[in-house]
Amino acid sequence: MDTPNALRSGWASRFGFILAATGSAVGLGNIWKFPYITGIHGGGAFVLVYLLCILLLGLPIMVAELLIGRCGQRDAIGSFMVLEGRKSPWRLVGWGSVAAAFVLLSFYSVVAGWSFDYVCKAATGILHRGNPEQISGLFGELTASAPRLVFWQALFILTTVGIVIGGIRGGIERWSKILMPGLFGLLILLFLHGMFSPGGMQSLKFMFVPDFTKLTSRSLLDALGHAFFTLSLGAGVMITYGSYLDPEADLFGLSFRIALLDTLVAMLASLTIFSVVFSAGMPIDGGPGLVFKTLPILFMQLPFGKVLALVFFLLLAFAALTSAISMLEVVVAYVIDEWGWRRAKATSFGGGAAFLLGIPCALSFNLWEGIKLLPGRTVFQSFDMLVSSYLLPLGGLMVSLYAGWVWTKEREKPASCRLADSGVLFAVWHFLVRYLAPAAVLLVLLNEAGLFS
Ligand code: TRP
Repeated sequence: MDTPNALRSGWASRFGFILAATGSAVGLGNIWKFPYITGIHGGGAFVLVYLLCILLLGLPIMVAELLIGRCGQRDAIGSFMVLEGRKSPWRLVGWGSVAAAFVLLSFYSVVAGWSFDYVCKAATGILHRGNPEQISGLFGELTASAPRLVFWQALFILTTVGIVIGGIRGGIERWSKILMPGLFGLLILLFLHGMFSPGGMQSLKFMFVPDFTKLTSRSLLDALGHAFFTLSLGAGVMITYGSYLDPEADLFGLSFRIALLDTLVAMLASLTIFSVVFSAGMPIDGGPGLVFKTLPILFMQLPFGKVLALVFFLLLAFAALTSAISMLEVVVAYVIDEWGWRRAKATSFGGGAAFLLGIPCALSFNLWEGIKLLPGRTVFQSFDMLVSSYLLPLGGLMVSLYAGWVWTKEREKPASCRLADSGVLFAVWHFLVRYLAPAAVLLVLLNEAGLFS
């Protein structure tokens, strides 16, 4: 074993850690993607399957990632080298994770940039001028303009860098303590408004009354894949964040809270969005355009719509920001721990590189629309597919295999490498990471590779 780094600074409090990790988990996935895939897959039954996936698949892998990080006390690659030796092939799992986080940051920041743009539009009133066509046309105008996309993407990454540069306590934890309560406050405000609107009841029914005839094998696999993405698994985030945890922290309890909060946000966001959509009598399966094209039109028709729109896009921007922070931290922790760079230099370098890689992603919507990286896919779509469909599930698969089959002799390890000794909980966890999680993730991967279509 390599010697763990004794001088590493950590979270100031467990609560701070929970907010930061929840900040990573709660992102565009919760507010933009979950509502639209739930809409497409018909509501209640899909939600139920999704909840099972979080509980049986996501949670155990999250515990495994946190454990690897806390035991290794290093970045995602270094932790595997500490645990298994410098030349161990397991370090490649770490490599895959850091690469995934880096590429993810590059295209995530493009979509996150849209949320910044919409905050501006909502604040200046541009979002409320004109007829419905003009309003939904704003989205096309934005994505058609390369300079604007690159500008917002740059500003978003700059903000992310500005936070990560402050370090774990002074940057990530401090800002999570501001942004996350802000996010919850804004969300509850919108949610209450939504529940008292005419579509409130219908939205509750849609989300919680399951109609199993609507389930297809595609919905099962989408639920599985999304459970994974929404908990930020497979890209080394929880390994990195776990490496800043103290040895006594109860990883089961912490993971449970993070998953619960993440799920809560996804549910509240969906209920809110659906209540708005139902109130206006619009179709629920609007797809990816739901948030940027449909919602602004609907806000315009509601009382206090201008304020609600501003609140909503602010919420989206906050959620995206705390997620991007975690992606950048995975890269920065690696550069600091393995290359020995100072944080300021590592953060500027990581952010700068992600910005450059993000430019072709932004251009995918306009100037480079015709350029295909993978067959039939723009650079943006190719990166998204590479990361979301392959790298993340693969990372999760390897982590669960590692935790289930390689991780043995729990009792002989130092405290930072042990889980809470509650026997039953441990046994259930071990069963899930050993058998169920790898099998389920393998299924997702094979499906993405087109085996079942
Ligand atoms: N979980 C975030 C969301 O729902 C996205 C995210 C942040 C992420 N960090 C990640 C996804 C790491 C996978 C891996 O939007």
